[in-house]
This record gives sequence, C-alpha cells and structure tokens, in this order.
Amino acid sequence: MPKQTILITGASSGIGAALAQAYAQGGATLLLWGRDEARLTDIAAQCRARGAAVITQSFDLRDAAGLAALLAATDSATPIDLVVFNAGLGGTAPADAFAETPQAAQAIAEVNFVAPVVAANVMADAMARRGAGQIVLVGSIVESYPLPMAPTYAATKAGLRLFAESLGMRLAKHGVTVTLVSPGFIDTPMSRRVTEPKPFLISPEAAAAVIKRGIAAKAAVIVVPWQYGVMRAATNLLPRALLRWILSRT
Ligand SMILES: NC(=O)c1ccc[n+]([C@@H]2O[C@H](COP(=O)([O-])OP(=O)(O)OC[C@H]3O[C@@H](n4cnc5c(N)ncnc54)[C@H](OP(=O)(O)O)[C@@H]3O)[C@@H](O)[C@H]2O)c1
Repeated sequence: MPKQTILITGASSGIGAALAQAYAQGGATLLLWGRDEARLTDIAAQCRARGAAVITQSFDLRDAAGLAALLAATDSATPIDLVVFNAGLGGTAPADAFAETPQAAQAIAEVNFVAPVVAANVMADAMARRGAGQIVLVGSIVESYPLPMAPTYAATKAGLRLFAESLGMRLAKHGVTVTLVSPGFIDTPMSRRVTEPKPFLISPEAAAAVIKRGIAAKAAVIVVPWQYGVMRAATNLLPRALLRWILSRT
C-alpha cells in the first residue's frame, strides 16, 4: 500500500474504531483521536499489530479554538492525506420534558457541528494548498428528517450535509474531495442507547468496509447500510406535512 496518513476522530469507539482497524496496514500512519485514553490505547495496539504506525491524541472536541490550533500543528508535522471527522454525540430529549436542556443542546451542537466544521476548514486550506486530500464528514441518515425526539441532533446532521456539499463544490478545482457518510443504524454504544426497533442494523466492521470502499471511490455521499438510501428516496416522495405527521407519532 502507498504511504498514507489518516486522521480519524472518535477512534476510541464504534464506527471510528472499526475504521481505524480497516485502514490499519503497513504503510499507513493512523492519527487516532478520542477522549478515552484507555480505549484509544487498546485500539492503537490492535492497529499496530496489523502493521500501521499509530499516534493517539486524547482531546475534547468541544474546545474549538484548541482544536483548530492542534489540527494545524498536527498537519504541519505529519501532512494528512485523509481525514475522517467521525466523532459524534447522540441524544434524545426526555419524553416527559418540554425541550432538551440548553447544556445538552450545546454539547451536541459543539461536537456534531461546530467541531467538524471548524476542523474541516483547517484541513480544506492545508489540503488545497497541497492540491490533494480527502475530507470525510460522518453525518446521519436523520439529516433528512425532522425528529421531535432529537431536534438538536437532527439539525446538526442536516447542517453537516449542506456543509459537506458546499465545501465539496468549493474544493473540487483544488484536488480535494469531500465525502458525506450517512449511516442508518450501526451497532455501537451510541445506537445501543436507542430502545426503539433498529431496522437493518449492521456491525461497525461491516459499515467500515462500505465506508472505506466509498472513500476509495471518492464518493460524494455514502449511505450505509444501503437500505436507508432506498428508504430516503421513498420518503422524499411524501409530502413534508405527511412525513411530519408520521414522525410526530413515533
Ligand atoms: N451508530 C449509529 O447507529 C449511527 C447512526 C447515524 C450516525 N452515526 C454517527 O456516527 C458517528 C460515530 O458514532 P458511533 O455510533 O460510533 O458512536 P460511539 O460509539 O458513541 O462513538 C462516538 C465517538 O465520538 C467521540 N466523542 C464524543 N464526544 C466527544 C468529544 N467531546 N470530544 C472528542 N471525542 C468525542 C467518542 O470519544 P470517547 O468515547 O473517547 O469519549 C467516541 O470515540 C457519529 O458522528 C454519529 O452521530 C451513528
């Protein structure tokens, strides 16, 4: 494999950890970011066993100013070929509350939207100057739906979708591609907190394999598992008022 430096946020769990393992092989330098040092160390050891060079970084993405500085310093020390902004925070408002707490809404907004947008702009500038690079943003299939049980989560993912499309258009002429990943249900600690039925649930390893193939093909959008792409196309045909009526009863 040609030498490649890959940064993955949220590499200490779920989809990010599975992606780290999917990319772990000789020639790969993996920059694995997360908060939980013990889990990061464990994933790093598994990746090294597959032949990758690994550098871990424990960092709270809610520190947006620190994030921009750390990422710029990391990229100038080890120029990044592929960056996957995967870290995310789930969260639904309690059914018996009128709204999400301001603190919960702020945390979700900062981790799911502010951090990837700030960081993607740092990487967009650096990669465009080099004339090459790939930026991947992990959104969610919920980006297409109004979710009364999780208004902030839905909004952050909807925002990320438009950001990815816009940034991709802006960077295309500079040799940098932008990919949006829209997962349905993937079996991770985040989705295990959801008590409702989880149709088409797949393992993080299966999701990582699909995402890796899509990134190699420089896809603009990767829906995983594929059934959610069909579901989205079908529900897009419904009048929005009918969709709202259905979702307000779930
Ligand atoms: N699983 C699904 O069904 C599903 C569906 C749609 C979209 N997604 C999206 O897929 C992505 C990965 O989710 P997952 O299911 O793999 O979740 P997960 O297992 O809960 O992992 C989330 C990752 O994000 C990191 N993270 C959270 N808050 C952070 C913060 N403040 N600073 C730094 N890192 C932080 C966590 O780090 P620590 O654990 O070290 O704190 C962890 O590595 C998310 O963007 C999520 O929205 C998942």
